[in-house]
Amino acid sequence: MKPPLDAPAPDWAALRADFPILDQMVNGHPLIYLDNGATTQKPRAVIDSLVRYYERDNANVHRGVHALSYRATAAYEAARARAASFIRAGSPEEIIFTRGTTEGLNLIAYAFTSRLKPGDAILVTEMEHHSNLVPWQLLAERTGANLLFVPVTGDDGLLDLGGLDALLARNVKLFAFPQISNSLGTINPVAELCAHARRLGVTTVVDAAQSAGHLPIDVQALGCDFLAFSGHKMAGPTGIGVLYGRHALLETMAPFQGGGEMIASVQFDHSTWNKAPHKFEAGTPDIAGAVGLHTAMDYLDAIGRPAIATHDGQLARDTYARLADVPGIRLFGPRAERGGLVSFSLAGAHPHDVVTFADQAGIALRGGHHCTQPLWRKLGVTATTRASFYLYNTPAEVDRLVDVIHRTAKFFG
Ligand SMILES: Cc1ncc(COP(=O)(O)O)c(C=O)c1O
Repeated sequence: MKPPLDAPAPDWAALRADFPILDQMVNGHPLIYLDNGATTQKPRAVIDSLVRYYERDNANVHRGVHALSYRATAAYEAARARAASFIRAGSPEEIIFTRGTTEGLNLIAYAFTSRLKPGDAILVTEMEHHSNLVPWQLLAERTGANLLFVPVTGDDGLLDLGGLDALLARNVKLFAFPQISNSLGTINPVAELCAHARRLGVTTVVDAAQSAGHLPIDVQALGCDFLAFSGHKMAGPTGIGVLYGRHALLETMAPFQGGGEMIASVQFDHSTWNKAPHKFEAGTPDIAGAVGLHTAMDYLDAIGRPAIATHDGQLARDTYARLADVPGIRLFGPRAERGGLVSFSLAGAHPHDVVTFADQAGIALRGGHHCTQPLWRKLGVTATTRASFYLYNTPAEVDRLVDVIHRTAKFFG
């Protein structure tokens, strides 16, 4: 599925044609979709695979002994194996299907309830999405553990790693952090962070919501214990996500939810558990979602994630550089190395005004706190505007974005 090494660079503008939704006018202009950090659009291949599954193969998985159930089970388990190869997990047994990143992170937090005690600590960063903060706050409340934070340096949006070892040494049991910040675009040094944690026996959790569809991921090379991502942020359907967990850890963890599929045997007064990953997948899963995600992973790898990372990173760097001379603008996140998104505030204009202005020009942006309220509070703003890119965006779209932001600044300035 990988493109050959000597493959020519993808024709990004032509790839747009794979995404039917992009072929429309919004407010009299061709749609420019720059809200990919929230969710991405789906290529025809993914949409077709969902339709095909429902038209030909739909049945419940694992329990049936009829032809359709065999086919649905085979498709669901093939998606699991594909997810394992997508992130280079050791085996499909290390892949748990979830509703998305949020559910994956909550699953770990729930399972670790019996492992933490008062005085233990959970380490996160100041750039967390609420999905990688609130579950740990709840875990800390349940167990009496403390929540500690790796600071963010300032508007340049880097992690201040000078005190990392000292923080980790404060009885930290779990260290959770994002691979790419959804608000700042920072790409964190995951392998280095995991290496520090491992030396002190700390379990690591990587929030890969913003990275899985953009960067190649090798969980073994990264050395993480858990990694979570969402299908809908990587050209796949909503309602399906992946939690990778190291097999030895999964085997010793308590289940998350009870119900069908996750049991080995049930008595009236007690039950025993299925093996991982089924122990963590109670009830009927999103089978069609897994099928669609499988197609999305194939689609992305046929293009090549290194090429996608180069492409949307370059669009973001160009945007950052060209917005820098807009009067009254304040740009967030690193200038050089960044993932495919740019956050900014504009003096005198609320982000919702900026987004509305852009919408009139057919450009979809996002304005708000992007689920990182504590980060913005620290940086002294309540909300920003975010442009987030994906493989179907083009330099011509950046031109139109920059033009609209200049006009917005003039209007409000
Ligand atoms: C960094 C990060 N983590 C977690 C999430 C939550 O993802 P989901 O809503 O798909 O569970 C998001 C969504 O925007 C995100 O950007």
